[in-house]
Amino acid sequence: MLIAGNWKMNGDPSSMEEFGRMIARAPEATAKGIDLVVCPPFVLIAKCADRATVSKVEVGGQDCHPEPSGAHTGDISAEMLAACGATAVIVGHSERRTDHNETDALVAEKATAAQRGGLMAIVCVGETEAQRDQGEALAVVKRQIENSVPTNLDPARLVIAYEPVWAIGTGRTPSIDDIAQMHAHIRTILEGRFANAPVRILYGGSVKPGNAAEILAVDNVDGALVGGASLKADDFLGIALAAPAKS
Ligand code: 13P
Repeated sequence: MLIAGNWKMNGDPSSMEEFGRMIARAPEATAKGIDLVVCPPFVLIAKCADRATVSKVEVGGQDCHPEPSGAHTGDISAEMLAACGATAVIVGHSERRTDHNETDALVAEKATAAQRGGLMAIVCVGETEAQRDQGEALAVVKRQIENSVPTNLDPARLVIAYEPVWAIGTGRTPSIDDIAQMHAHIRTILEGRFANAPVRILYGGSVKPGNAAEILAVDNVDGALVGGASLKADDFLGIALAAPAKS
């Protein structure tokens, strides 16, 4: 089970106190076999990674450029993240797909770059509300995986995060049946692309301590990608500790 926190564009040096509380409580989660990853904004990655050296909390980035270095003002490469102590990076988050017009093809390049840089790639997929209303959710997610998750990735360092766009930051979540259906669908697609290699599938979108137990108990849900509730140590750990024991 993997619980990943995406701080998005939140956090300043005072957030280190909250991160310190996460580190202090992390052993409660690791004792239950739960992996924790926190993805702060770029400017806090090195600080967090330095603090986390004594803990089981891994630190990740929220995006990376496809190239390892070069003339790309404002961008950060996977290699640079790794050099700062990151071990993972989120790519293809819907906010980047929307705010920065990221295509599946670009996300595929970033996922490849993440692993080239030695990082675990957390690739996000998910339908919009209009696509779900039109009955296209399953097809949209299939297309996103086919086009943004290259088959030559190392499945052991690959995580798929299913984040329905309409559930992000809204307090709304799909029904448990809809989560189960989508995660089974994603599992089938991944099995076709990475034979016999388990890839973890996270659910993301308005996960809170109050709904985590029910969501994390669903078949093929191997963890959560948490936005708002990952900013507070008690909420983040509350979600992790709500995870049921799974084989
Ligand atoms: P919320 O948990 O705030 O809905 O955000 C989910 C998300 O986008 C994580 O990447």
